[in-house]
Amino acid sequence: MARGNTLTDRRSGATHESFLRHQNYLYLKLAVALCLVSTVAYIFFSPVPRHNGGTWLGYTLGTISAVLIVWLTALGMRKRAITPGKWSLKGWTSAHIYLGLSLVVVATLHTGFQFGLNVHTLAYVLMMIVIVSGVFGIFFYATIPQRMSDNRAEKSTAQMLEEIAALDNDLREAAQPLASENAIVVQRAIDNTKLGGGVLERLRSNHPKCATLQAMNELKARRKSGGDDLGPILSVLERKGVLLERARRHVRYRALLELWLYIHVPITFALLAALIAHIVSVFYFW
Ligand code: HEM
Ligand code: HEM
Repeated sequence: MARGNTLTDRRSGATHESFLRHQNYLYLKLAVALCLVSTVAYIFFSPVPRHNGGTWLGYTLGTISAVLIVWLTALGMRKRAITPGKWSLKGWTSAHIYLGLSLVVVATLHTGFQFGLNVHTLAYVLMMIVIVSGVFGIFFYATIPQRMSDNRAEKSTAQMLEEIAALDNDLREAAQPLASENAIVVQRAIDNTKLGGGVLERLRSNHPKCATLQAMNELKARRKSGGDDLGPILSVLERKGVLLERARRHVRYRALLELWLYIHVPITFALLAALIAHIVSVFYFW
């Protein structure tokens, strides 16, 4: 997924806040006003026999919701054509978040709380999944960048990788005088260093199969039975273990920052499809 000057790239808490506070909470106010007007209309208008999507209020709230959904989807395209000025990307994202959240009220009132096993409710459920994943996205953007910079301790990703490679060289040297059964264990820790991988692998917080960890455990057990002086090699392995843990945490944070979008965006398209089916079906059966 191509990334321009997006929220994803601006990983400071301060920048994140400015999205939410944009123009003195203009879009929060607009969203609250929309919810209030919808709720008041819902309370004062009493259709017979009951509220549903087919009354004038139902149609109005449904149309507002559908227009909002199409517009929120346009954010993806908008992000790729960044222009400063009145409709800044910041304003667009702020509007996306608050007006996106207002759908919880507006679209729910549109349904008149009539849910069932049908394509209408499917559209509604998909919409809620998109919204909830959006909330997770905001939460991750708010909390992870700080944790990432604390974890990296001023080091860039490239520096971390360089240090791991340098420790591998130290391990090679320190393994030379060792007996072959011990040297093989060290070589395995060098050859099988794994960082990253598939989505699940990147999200893991513990790595019991880590070759460095396994080598450390094996050599610690052997140290008790005498033979080679394993102290120096164990200390290099330990340093590599600490660094690997830090690098893996970094990979995990990056994955979390991106993963939610793999739910948010595809489900958006499923939502659009279900919404078209919903609208076509209500007009067809009308
Ligand atoms: C132009 C936009 C829309 C129009 C014209 C529209 C139209 C309608 C109509 C006529 C009904 C009543 C159906 C009936 O009584 O059988 C209805 C119900 C419903 N609509 Fe919409 N709708 C729109 C947008 C949406 C949106 C955005 C959602 C949610 C994502 C949604 C979810 C529902 C649900 C869950 C119901 C209740 C279904 C039921 O009664 O079993 N609609 N809609
Ligand atoms: C039904 C409602 C929504 C729809 C259809 C929708 C759709 C989208 C789409 C299509 C993107 C573009 C992703 C990309 O191409 O990179 C996006 C991004 C995003 N959405 Fe939503 N969204 C909705 C609601 C929300 C809500 C309620 C929130 C937050 C509470 C939210 C937060 C975000 C964020 C933070 C981004 C990423 C912006 C960036 O990386 O610059 N969305 N959304």
